[in-house]
Amino acid sequence: MSAAAAGSDRPVDLEKSAAEIPDAETTEVPEKLRAEIEAYMARYPDPRSATLPALEAAQRVHGWCSPQALEQVACVMRLTPAYLESVATFYDMLETTPVGRHSIYVCTNISCSLRGGDALYAAVRDAAADEPEEFNVRSFECLGACDIAPMASVDGVYVGPLALEDVPRLLDDARAGRRVLVEKQLAPRLVADTQANSREFPPHPPQEPASR
Ligand code: FES
Repeated sequence: MSAAAAGSDRPVDLEKSAAEIPDAETTEVPEKLRAEIEAYMARYPDPRSATLPALEAAQRVHGWCSPQALEQVACVMRLTPAYLESVATFYDMLETTPVGRHSIYVCTNISCSLRGGDALYAAVRDAAADEPEEFNVRSFECLGACDIAPMASVDGVYVGPLALEDVPRLLDDARAGRRVLVEKQLAPRLVADTQANSREFPPHPPQEPASR
């Protein structure tokens, strides 16, 4: 059975005042964040469809979906923070409590598990245990990269196949702000979708058709 969504076990605060759309005159929103959210809103007939990428953008700025982050998104989208909180507490990649700077998701689903994913997760979790402000380590369901099992997502960058010996350098690279385990990243590999997981790399040039 999957774990309850974050926040679903918290009682409703009946003393809380009714949520209002934040005043655009008095709510400060970083210019870059505002522009990014507005660009997402422009993509859809109903601007609320931009809620998830807008929250993800605010999370990148604030580290989590803090009350201030929700306030800023609500101000730009002309929604209530309560509406945004209801979305943020449903999706578990949106953090509703402070977490470490680097999110490391270690896949422990079937393909990765069969290739040592559980031991890998335990090793990463234990190695990062003393640095909760630095690392947010979680086991995760299939991240869709079973061909590089066992694998992990480090701040959205996929690396694998991973061995237990890779754990210290994975954490060192992330801590130092370096590209993590460069030779094990998914992005430089030739794939059908040249944009896949290309956050750190420019897209590949078109691939030559295989000669017969
Ligand atoms: S089972 Fe780990 S990526 Fe699919």
